[in-house]
Amino acid sequence: MTISKLSASEQEAITDGVLAASLKSQQEKGPALRQVHPKSHGLVWGEFIVENNIPAALKVGVFAAPQTYPIWVRFSNAGEAEKRGKFVSDKEPNARGLAIKLMNVEGKKALDDEEKTQDFILINHPVFFVRDVQGYVDIAKVASGQADPELTQAMQPSFAILQETGNKKVSNPLLIQYWSTTPYKLGSQAIKFSVKPQQQELPDSIPDSENYLHEAIVKYLTYEGKDAFFDFLIQVYVDEEKTPVENPMQEWKEEDSPFIKVATIKIFSQKFDFDERKRLDEGLSFNPWHTLSEHEPIGSVNLARKKIYQELAKYRREEIEKRLREPQPFAFVQDEPR
Ligand code: HEM
Repeated sequence: MTISKLSASEQEAITDGVLAASLKSQQEKGPALRQVHPKSHGLVWGEFIVENNIPAALKVGVFAAPQTYPIWVRFSNAGEAEKRGKFVSDKEPNARGLAIKLMNVEGKKALDDEEKTQDFILINHPVFFVRDVQGYVDIAKVASGQADPELTQAMQPSFAILQETGNKKVSNPLLIQYWSTTPYKLGSQAIKFSVKPQQQELPDSIPDSENYLHEAIVKYLTYEGKDAFFDFLIQVYVDEEKTPVENPMQEWKEEDSPFIKVATIKIFSQKFDFDERKRLDEGLSFNPWHTLSEHEPIGSVNLARKKIYQELAKYRREEIEKRLREPQPFAFVQDEPR
């Protein structure tokens, strides 16, 4: 497997640059919210049920034995807040996120801030819009009109992926497929994973409501009293041409590496639309590095996420706490929509 074209010191310096820019944006748009994926459609509970007939080579980490883990699942829109106190409407183009946190997981973890969790983080498109952490900086440069024509031209495939991801018609987050886009270890192998709904998406029209994705989940799980089921699928690395590790802009095609089901996700019919759940949602931290060593993230994009997610979640939690521990005047809190 090839490794990133970036040297370790370049990777680190660029990551620090992204972190500084992200912190600044979070400060402006909502210090107590996630910098990206701030808008939640719901935090719900369920089970992650590991299959009992997994191929021997994939029986690693949380998939080692047929077992049921309790989970929290968070559905989100990827885009930053429009401005302080104002999320982007669900009707606008956006990537949709899915974050899963398994609990009661035993084993050696990559980070020590949580003891017994394993997170899986996905979006509703098979590819990510940049190749490495440098691409994350470059696309922001182009978007803010600070790039030369050559870089602007070079980043067009990234803009095309952003547009394709954002323009997908989504009627309900419980009815669409999600992909990891970036690779992870499975012991000594490299894999990607995907979460596919068992319930079919109906050709539904999009309701005329800013928060229709949240409302669709409430209707499904609470008012209609239905459970939702997803298959958790794994694709195994084949070779650098078909399944590159260092280019999340290239899809690992099903015909090159078929999906293998390793678990079922069950989300129970439930009430979740209340303030206390929203506070839990805003305080939790999902991070691809909340993982057993056997499932560690790989590649430049994933490596950058280690420090960025950790630091931004820490900042977010400190800001939440600061407002409560020693109450601050409005001049500090500044929580009124501008
Ligand atoms: C260099 C690339 C990336 C950067 C800088 C980045 C940045 C971030 C940040 C700052 C957060 C909020 C963390 C927190 O406050 O807890 C976040 C959350 C998230 N990211 Fe990324 N991300 C990157 C790549 C990706 C990729 C490849 C995916 C694809 C699966 C992804 C999907 C998500 C999702 C679904 C969430 C929401 C998690 C939650 O519900 O709490 N991100 N990202």
